[in-house]
Amino acid sequence: SDGVRELLLSRIRDVADYPKPGVMFKDITPLLADPEAFSALTDTLAALCVRHGATKVVGLEARGFILAAPAAVRAGLGFIPVRKAGKLPGATLSQSYELEYGTAEMEVHAEDVSDADRVLVIDDVLATGGTAEASLQLVRRAGAQVAGVAVLLELGFLGGRARLEPALKDAPLEALVTV
Ligand code: PRP
Ligand code: MG
Repeated sequence: SDGVRELLLSRIRDVADYPKPGVMFKDITPLLADPEAFSALTDTLAALCVRHGATKVVGLEARGFILAAPAAVRAGLGFIPVRKAGKLPGATLSQSYELEYGTAEMEVHAEDVSDADRVLVIDDVLATGGTAEASLQLVRRAGAQVAGVAVLLELGFLGGRARLEPALKDAPLEALVTV
């Protein structure tokens, strides 16, 4: 609802010139510290899991974990961590993606995702879309369907939605707040 959207937006703090000059950082820690806002966020994300028929919830390290895990529990679904490379002990699928400078790699335990699953990917922020795109590639390579991507905050001016479109195919991108 608009009320929830306003509550969430009001708890995201703008920090100028962080992590470097000219960048306006979106700090979600005030939202996490407010039980009413965090609970409303969790309820909203859990409802999206149900609406889009998810059978599993993927959270993206690190800030995506904080949002995705409680949403999975509230929706009654399993939580799957997609981690930065080198952190998962079992057999993994690995996907590299581009950062502003250089490349990074994320991984998922192959056994966590089956071809019977429909996965909702949850992260805090959609910026350029590179992180979410790589996670969708992992989910599809594991043979699962993509139920969608849900983010708390979409930075519309960075064009992540357009970048994500091919990887989403017809799955939805749900942004609770867009700036
Ligand atoms: C941030 C944010 C998203 C990603 C969005 O994560 O939490 O995951 O960037 O950027 P993109 O759309 O341009 O890929 P970051 O990699 O800074 O790390 P963190 O979550 O571990 O703090
Ligand atoms: Mg992140």
